[in-house]
Amino acid sequence: MSPPSNVQLVGASTAHHRALVQLERVAASEAPVLVEGETGSGKEMAARAIHYGGCRRAGPFVPLNCGALPDSLIESELFGVERGAFTDARRSRRGLVAEAAGGTLFLDEVDALSAKAQVTLLRFLQDQWYRPVGTTREERTDVRLIAAANRPLEQLVPRELFRADLLYRLKVLTLVLPPLREREGDVDLLARHFIGQFAAKYGLPCKQIAPDTLRWMRSYAWPGNVRELENWVHRQFLMCDGGWLTHEATAAPGPEPEPDAAVGPEGATPAFQAAKAEAVRRFERDYLERVLEQAQGNVTRAARMACKERRAFGKLLKKHGLARGDAALG
Ligand SMILES: Nc1ncnc2c1ncn2[C@@H]1O[C@H](COP(=O)(O)OP(=O)(O)O)[C@@H](O)[C@H]1O
Ligand SMILES: [Mg+2]
Repeated sequence: MSPPSNVQLVGASTAHHRALVQLERVAASEAPVLVEGETGSGKEMAARAIHYGGCRRAGPFVPLNCGALPDSLIESELFGVERGAFTDARRSRRGLVAEAAGGTLFLDEVDALSAKAQVTLLRFLQDQWYRPVGTTREERTDVRLIAAANRPLEQLVPRELFRADLLYRLKVLTLVLPPLREREGDVDLLARHFIGQFAAKYGLPCKQIAPDTLRWMRSYAWPGNVRELENWVHRQFLMCDGGWLTHEATAAPGPEPEPDAAVGPEGATPAFQAAKAEAVRRFERDYLERVLEQAQGNVTRAARMACKERRAFGKLLKKHGLARGDAALG
């Protein structure tokens, strides 16, 4: 299996370089790693880079979002279910630890694990033996563990929110990702990188970043880090007319850039409004699907991740036919 092309960690700041050096070292080992960093700072991307940069790269990379997993499902998700164990278990299902055998199990948002789930995980991590739900049979797997947390786990231990023994199991190695505001120069690079990606994705010409927008972007704190920047660029890329990306939806701040960068294919003009509406529709749908996937179907969580009010977010889902019985989705 070759590494997916989306594992490209863009950045040139000192803080980014420091993290990359640490990442390479961590990838060379098979010990458990704890990746810490604010939301959107690139923890999942770094986890993939560790997996695809190490000797398990030919094996699977299996992510699990612990924050979206209710206590009642943790064992069946991790260890699988044998048919008939519950009234509703009509089929046997392999668990994630078996699926990740020979590869990496990525436990995202471990800081959200309940006390019960922490015990379950700790028991498994001791020797990687486990019992599928509904059996008395012990099975063994072989996974590398990468865990990620949005807040320093160390600080949760004295407050009895995280078990110290589990922390030590997870944190043999650590990788700390700096927030975007501490990565000088990276905002420019990342924004251009994302513009290139969206231009390719939508088959539209690239845009240049307006000078005062660039100044604004450099001074803004980006509390949602790279994810917030990516989503912002995505939206502005689609909403700004002409060849400039600005922080107002449609303003053109200066002269049009070079014609080859600013003008679409010949004959595109008459259909422009329709093309734009279609691009926005595609963006919204694509965005909603992605954020729902990241939130594992939990609408409240997805709304929070999108920084949107819950009801407005629900309306958007309805508009795109993605609101499958909101109550069931959370
Ligand atoms: N250094 C980077 N270069 C390019 N894209 C990045 C980088 N860091 C993060 N991203 C992108 O930003 C988004 C958020 O990253 P993610 O790894 O999901 O963050 P986290 O897990 O810390 O919340 C993803 O779409 C990811 O591809
Ligand atoms: Mg994440």
